[in-house]
Amino acid sequence: MESDLIIKQNRIEIHSHLEKTYSSNIALDALRGLTAKQKYIPSKYFYDSRGSKLFDRICCLPEYYPTRTEMSILEYAAGKIMKSFDKGDIVELGSGANHKIRLLLEALHESRLPDYRYVPVDVSESALMSASEELLEIYPDLEIYGIVADFTCHMNAIPADRPRLIIFLGSTIGNFNESDRQEFLRLLARCMKPEDRALIGFDMIKPRETLEAAYNDSQGVTSAFNKNVLNVLNRELNAEFDPARFAHVAYYNEARGRVEMHLQAKQDMEVNVNDLELTVEFNKDETIHTEICSKFSREDILKMSADAGLEIKQWFFDSKGWFSLAELVLID
Ligand code: SAH
Ligand code: TRP
Repeated sequence: MESDLIIKQNRIEIHSHLEKTYSSNIALDALRGLTAKQKYIPSKYFYDSRGSKLFDRICCLPEYYPTRTEMSILEYAAGKIMKSFDKGDIVELGSGANHKIRLLLEALHESRLPDYRYVPVDVSESALMSASEELLEIYPDLEIYGIVADFTCHMNAIPADRPRLIIFLGSTIGNFNESDRQEFLRLLARCMKPEDRALIGFDMIKPRETLEAAYNDSQGVTSAFNKNVLNVLNRELNAEFDPARFAHVAYYNEARGRVEMHLQAKQDMEVNVNDLELTVEFNKDETIHTEICSKFSREDILKMSADAGLEIKQWFFDSKGWFSLAELVLID
């Protein structure tokens, strides 16, 4: 598959599969989303360089329990996970600041590091670059092969010449809708070989107050993150959104088992998106749907894995059962 080499220096190599397609995709996605009856914007556009930094701040917020809970599971499970994966590529989909991979690497004896290559995959080039450089400072012997790509359509850009542990953490799997999630898992299973495994982080169903607090933090970081997508549209498509005229709204839709995030117009308004020659009309209180964060039961996870042709080899939880990490392999 064609890609642009962005950097290659002693142990880091980063390739981009987005450069050529990003601007035409955002135009098409925004046109589709902003002219739909329920307006929406795909959530991958949250993550420009400012968005990735805001997301890192979300991960440290007192109300945002998923990051620290998943890290606490990784801390005790890393040894067990790495014990049975003795060499190959650790591929991380949506790697972000890649803090979690460190917990897997810490479980290895230093002498084993040269047996692994870390393959982070993320749409955010800036996050991928800075996180890779930071990781190399801590692990100078680690080989890093970064891929700037959309994991929903560039799965075949990921090297497959060594055994792979494909990690997909932070409940990013919950950000797909149901049909996209199933399609993603089937695609993942189709590209896995019998010796490969996937490690997926799932946020579990829990009381509404805990869930809603996690996406409505008191410092307003989540609100700034949500509104940042409007800055991305302003910059990339020469649009004229005023983020101050939108309110951040996040609530738990219990019937659908998911937190839904919206940007709600505070007044009637028209917004020009100049590069699309489009004027978008908003009525007061109308929303742009920006994200879903699905929450799972054990049955949901068993069912979706089986439907994709995967089975759970090891399954780890925290003591409250708030988050889980499932290690999946192909059903033989
Ligand atoms: N793995 C980290 C970050 C999760 S946030 C953690 O667990 O905390 C989701 C990450 O996925 C972001 O870094 C974002 O840039 C990336 N991302 C979102 N949609 C993507 C897509 N379609 N393809 C590739 N990366 C994507
Ligand atoms: N995967 C994260 C989650 O579902 C993504 C996320 C966390 C997020 N906080 C957010 C997405 C705020 C949009 C807005 O929890």
